[in-house]
Amino acid sequence: MEEADSVFRRPLVNVHGVPLFWSIAEEWAQVETFQARPDDLLIATYPKSGTTWISEIVDMIYNDGDVEKCQRDAIFNRVPFMELIIPGMSNGVARLAERPSPRLVKTHLPVQLLPESFWENNCKIIYVARNAKDVAVSYYYFHQMAKIHPEPGTWQEFLERFVAGEVAFGSWFHHVKGWWEKKKDHPVLYLFYEDMKENPSRELQKVTQFLGKEVTEEAQKRILHHTAFREMQKNPTSNYRMLSTAEMDHSVSPFMRKGIAGDWKNHFTVAQNERFDEAYTEKMKESTLQFRMQI
Ligand code: A3P
Repeated sequence: MEEADSVFRRPLVNVHGVPLFWSIAEEWAQVETFQARPDDLLIATYPKSGTTWISEIVDMIYNDGDVEKCQRDAIFNRVPFMELIIPGMSNGVARLAERPSPRLVKTHLPVQLLPESFWENNCKIIYVARNAKDVAVSYYYFHQMAKIHPEPGTWQEFLERFVAGEVAFGSWFHHVKGWWEKKKDHPVLYLFYEDMKENPSRELQKVTQFLGKEVTEEAQKRILHHTAFREMQKNPTSNYRMLSTAEMDHSVSPFMRKGIAGDWKNHFTVAQNERFDEAYTEKMKESTLQFRMQI
């Protein structure tokens, strides 16, 4: 396990001003020259915003709501994480190059770092955003269990780094805002985790419409059932338990943790909440992008 040990818990490295895992930074040329195809569907998110949830939904739509087909492989193989390169473990660029079309592609890159070929090919993109407070809580637990991240330190220490954008994939605010602006000149369906929790059926319809897919009522019911949190939590092909414990240790904190909106209230002190509101609320006022931060 010497090699595995040496890849984990290493400091992040800046790529064009955005902190990324050291191994992505080292192989950045591969990511930058990624060859998108016109029929690729890109799922873009800031980490911990519902990436796995929307990925499962889209894979279900692509497979006409066939549960068995969607259990053919783990979610990280069905929807490869493009820029994730970890020596001896993962290379999303290489994995995707081998996949037949139409491909589903996952990225956490901020909009300005997305490989040019996605714009050149006018690929459809689904972006999911989640309120910063719940993202911070989820990311804190994720840092503890997913060892490619640096050690998170205490909750307070982590929160400061989060607000400063000194976590993998950079500032939450720049991410959600950058992708929001992109909607103006590119086919981006911009969804919110909180809306998906509130009315999964309505949000599913937005996705099917955006993809131009016909989905029967029966298939829709199956999709909603199969992608509900409790179902995904016990499904080994979506709960990340098919990964090695070296990469993700679910005994520290499960990947499928709570799956709710508003868990931040169980973690933030009054002072931390004020700090967050200060950091984001004013910025939000300048934008048409609005979050349900107090949910
Ligand atoms: P919590 O840690 O708050 O529970 P990502 O896939 O982007 O890494 O996001 C992971 C977060 O989405 C976790 O949040 C996880 O529990 C939640 N999640 C995953 N599947 C979900 C589902 N079907 N419904 C609601 N939340 C889900």
